Amino acid sequence: GCAAPCLSVNGQVCTLPEGAADASLLHWLRNDLGLNGPKYGCGLGQCGACTVLVDGVAARACVIPAVGVAGREVTTLEGLAPPGQWHPVQQAFVDEQAAQCGYCLNGMVMMAAALLARQPQPSEADIRRELSHNLCRCGTHLSILRAVQKAAL
Ligand code: FES
Repeated sequence: GCAAPCLSVNGQVCTLPEGAADASLLHWLRNDLGLNGPKYGCGLGQCGACTVLVDGVAARACVIPAVGVAGREVTTLEGLAPPGQWHPVQQAFVDEQAAQCGYCLNGMVMMAAALLARQPQPSEADIRRELSHNLCRCGTHLSILRAVQKAAL
């Protein structure tokens, strides 16, 4: 066990430093651990750019205090697939060229990966519903939808 609050990030046990008490999970992951997969978009829990998995469930890291994940398993985009490999969702996003600026992609990929983990063959409506609260300002929604469908095949 750890003396200070500890958790696992991408399979590595980490200790939350004292100074992390007031930080959001997103701030801690990006600024202290250098994990820049999760993005800072709105900072208000509304856009989804900061999505990570907490115990396998998609969560918005900008509105979760870092101390709130003590004892939990956090997965960021960096830990979605084994080192040097891509998750099937990432591969499908590349194949479908489902990005323009790319800022929303972390959230889209993490949401889609969580969806497919619990429901390997979602309907189009399921995918649309799941991603409906993740904002993409470029309007690449149809390519994103195709990519998730492809990853589910
Ligand atoms: Fe977290 Fe927008 S940055 S939801």
